[in-house]
Amino acid sequence: MKIAVGSDHAGYEMKNHVIQWLQENRYEVVDMGPFNEESVDYPDFARKVGESVAEGSCQQGVLLCGTGIGVSISANKVKGIRAALACNPEFATLARQHNNANIICFSARFTDRETIAKSLQNWFAAEFEGGRHERRVNKIEPCCSKSV
Ligand code: RB5
Repeated sequence: MKIAVGSDHAGYEMKNHVIQWLQENRYEVVDMGPFNEESVDYPDFARKVGESVAEGSCQQGVLLCGTGIGVSISANKVKGIRAALACNPEFATLARQHNNANIICFSARFTDRETIAKSLQNWFAAEFEGGRHERRVNKIEPCCSKSV
């Protein structure tokens, strides 16, 4: 499984830990940057990761920024993306079971390495439960993309 990974400068260091965890767990990683700690704009990297997952060149994505909020808001603007901000391993499990999230987002400033590793483990191990959750997930694009 190919996993797209991206961040901003605030998530850069944690991104390297995430990549290491993914590789140790035998996932193929596509690092979409940034490649140093210089200040960058998180939407640029969220879009890259979002588009690679939406187009299917990567199967899942992981995004990080200071809070995880900016990357999740941005990635969710890409059609077909369901990006979930996981604050703990339980969120990660439910993001798969109930929301079938195809991108998981983390706060590099407020979530520690162990929590992120356990969250990744849970997210990959969990399965979408379908049923009523499928009905709800199927409503996201048509209901929520209507202009107000
Ligand atoms: C960068 O300082 C910070 O604003 C960014 O990483 C993120 O937290 C935005 O949501």
